[in-house]
Amino acid sequence: MFRVLFSSFFFFVFALAAPTATDPGYNCHPGQKCWPSLQEWRQFNQTVDGQLHRTIPLGAPCYSNSSYHDVAACDAVEGNYSDSIAREAYYGQTYWLNWEACGTSGCSLYEPDPEETLYSSCSLGRLAPYYVAVRTPSHISAALQFAQAHNIRISVKNTGHDFFGRSTVPDSLAIWTHNLNSFDFYQNFTAFNCLSANGQNVGEMGAGTIAGDAYRYFNLHDMDVTGGYEQSVGIAGGFGQGGGLGDFTTAHGLMVDNAVEFEVVTADGQVRVINECNDAELFWAMRGGGGGTYAVLTKFRVQLYPSLPIHTYNFKANFTGDNTTQSQSLREILTAHANNQIEWSAQLVTGSVDYYPEKVSFGAVLPYDDDGSKLKSATAAFFQFVNNRTDMAVVENNYTSFATYTDYLSLSQVDARATEPAGIFSLLASRLMPRNLFTTPETVDSLVEAVVYGIEKARTLLPGTATQVVFEMPVSNPDSNQMTSALPAWRSALWHVIHVAEWGKPLAPATAESATAGFLQLLDPLKKLSPGGGAYFNEAHYGEPDWQETFFGTNYNRLLEIKNQYDPTHMFDCWKCVGWRGEQE
Ligand SMILES: Cc1cc2nc3c(=O)[nH]c(=O)nc-3n(C[C@H](O)[C@H](O)[C@H](O)COP(=O)(O)OP(=O)(O)OC[C@H]3O[C@@H](n4cnc5c(N)ncnc54)[C@H](O)[C@@H]3O)c2cc1C
Ligand SMILES: *[C@@H]1O[C@H](CO)[C@@H](O)[C@H](O)[C@H]1NC(C)=O
Ligand SMILES: *[C@@H]1O[C@H](CO)[C@@H](O)[C@H](O)[C@H]1NC(C)=O
Ligand SMILES: *[C@@H]1O[C@H](CO)[C@@H](O)[C@H](O)[C@H]1NC(C)=O
Ligand SMILES: *[C@@H]1O[C@H](CO)[C@@H](O)[C@H](O)[C@H]1NC(C)=O
Ligand SMILES: *[C@@H]1O[C@H](CO)[C@@H](O)[C@H](O)[C@H]1NC(C)=O
Ligand SMILES: *[C@@H]1O[C@H](CO)[C@@H](O)[C@H](O)[C@H]1NC(C)=O
Ligand SMILES: *[C@@H]1O[C@H](CO)[C@@H](O)[C@H](O)[C@H]1NC(C)=O
Ligand SMILES: *[C@@H]1O[C@H](CO)[C@@H](O)[C@H](O)[C@H]1NC(C)=O
Repeated sequence: MFRVLFSSFFFFVFALAAPTATDPGYNCHPGQKCWPSLQEWRQFNQTVDGQLHRTIPLGAPCYSNSSYHDVAACDAVEGNYSDSIAREAYYGQTYWLNWEACGTSGCSLYEPDPEETLYSSCSLGRLAPYYVAVRTPSHISAALQFAQAHNIRISVKNTGHDFFGRSTVPDSLAIWTHNLNSFDFYQNFTAFNCLSANGQNVGEMGAGTIAGDAYRYFNLHDMDVTGGYEQSVGIAGGFGQGGGLGDFTTAHGLMVDNAVEFEVVTADGQVRVINECNDAELFWAMRGGGGGTYAVLTKFRVQLYPSLPIHTYNFKANFTGDNTTQSQSLREILTAHANNQIEWSAQLVTGSVDYYPEKVSFGAVLPYDDDGSKLKSATAAFFQFVNNRTDMAVVENNYTSFATYTDYLSLSQVDARATEPAGIFSLLASRLMPRNLFTTPETVDSLVEAVVYGIEKARTLLPGTATQVVFEMPVSNPDSNQMTSALPAWRSALWHVIHVAEWGKPLAPATAESATAGFLQLLDPLKKLSPGGGAYFNEAHYGEPDWQETFFGTNYNRLLEIKNQYDPTHMFDCWKCVGWRGEQE
């Protein structure tokens, strides 16, 4: 349904540049003469050591008239339908059902009761008909060459978590990185041909590794890696190329700030090791310019940090009283949060809060080598504030300490599984809110009003909405030498405000259209307060109109030049990525 939807509320229409000799368009579809014959697919399969596969959508065994219908296989799919780890280990799915579907066709199941199918018959939706489960860079080179020879679009998929559906493209040949799952640890790291990039405690991750495995592997070496909250995210994929924030960001910067060296396959099929000395421009662009845009990354080498104990403070409460009182409670707790924010950031306290019209779920995290005292003193005023209230029914109010990040993970994952199921639909709208808004009572008021407006308005658009205020900002790593291409707005932001909606069944087209347009408008007051600011490319609204400025800021032109240099024929174009030329792509 979203393809239809875009055209109706789109603000900018980009002229699609006419295909030139160097840009074949990559638009060959099955059924056309250009599409490879079975014989040609078979030959190609040999060049990738038998790793070419036909896509079977995850839900296919559960569709009674699918040729893959199979009761036992269907039981296994149903049993793991919302499990993000089980899902990402399979090509034929996305985390969000929006991007498995195409128009009103798909092959998904209803997550709360997976025995129910969501479409009348099973079709590929946006999934590629063929994928290569790559094991070596040479498989990627071969896939690029084959796609070029047949004028087929390439898609690059890791976990399929993308909020814009950029890892699935209909009628494409997919490069699936899941099996590039190696780890390594270098106490003394020697960079490729680059003395200045040598260093200590550098971790190496294959492109298909996921955050949970990375935390556990590096913890065995007493090291922490700058990952995020949910363990199934592919941190060397879209996360590590488009920003990457989590519990260590406040102290150590974004994931892209910590990149030391990449191994990539460029559009010309060449395998390159890139760092600040070799293909330095490409390295800069892939440190923030986003996944799916410049090359296929195969290895990510990242700065690690000695492992620290993790301290957390969790506060959950229901707002009691009628909805007017609830609205007042929401304003007051948001104001208290905003008033503490500058101090928390200075103390490197990090975290995220889910605000709802009727309740709040607050979580602060501090990696620090003590018994938890620092977090307690940093949050003492807030603790007192929430504990003296009579307008909230407290559900949880808890300081907890963990010896390592791995220990913390065992708890946070139980929480994530409950609060962030995979296999549902989602819609986001987000904005980075700058530090200057946190400095006076008047600006704090205007910020709080703008956030509350979105929280309450969202609920009128769709049920099941929440607003996340993430305060994992990269305050200690200003990247003053501009060694990364991360959106400059990160460097002055204290809040990443994300309005979220999640639901289980395809919406009627008219509902989807109005909710999608409405979600974009939730941001209007936040945008007014942050002129020239931006939003996080990985967690934003896919209809964002001024996307070049919003996602890339003043880096856009340089990012585009590098795109044109390394990918002149636009093999890697994706939705609102650098060099994207319009919705026809
Ligand atoms: C449940 C959940 C929790 C999240 N939590 C956080 C969080 O705490 N912090 C945070 O910063 N973000 C978070 N995100 C957002 C996350 O950063 C993005 O969804 C990110 O794009 C995921 O990358 P991926 O490679 O796993 O996903 P995919 O959907 O597989 O890929 C995303 C994009 O990267 C491209 N790509 C993937 N691999 C490669 C590669 N090897 N080379 C080139 N391009 C590649 C794809 O083509 C696509 O464009 C979360 C997302 C979800 C769904
Ligand atoms: C590719 O070859 C492998 C190994 O022979 C085989 O299992 C697989 O089915 C083939 N893929 C396709 C699409 O035919
Ligand atoms: C879920 O997937 C795992 C493999 O990842 C499998 O062993 C298990 O049986 C599945 N669960 C169900 C209920 O089918
Ligand atoms: C499956 O059922 C749907 C709806 O009943 C029908 O349109 C479709 O043609 C069927 N597909 C097959 C392969 O039988
Ligand atoms: C790393 O280098 C230091 C000295 O520079 C040395 O003491 C140490 O043994 C080296 N570690 C490894 C694993 O080689
Ligand atoms: C409170 O509820 C009333 C009636 O149910 C409704 O008219 C009003 O808009 C609500 N106010 C808020 C702030 O949600
Ligand atoms: C809040 O309650 C605590 C006791 O839990 C008390 O010591 C403190 O003075 C109260 N603070 C305010 C602002 O009322
Ligand atoms: C908070 O609200 C939830 C959902 O309505 C309810 O299940 C829970 O019992 C409430 N908790 C308290 C302490 O009021
Ligand atoms: C505190 O957290 C622990 C888990 O860490 C949980 O078992 C306990 O119920 C929580 N207590 C309160 C009062 O929320």
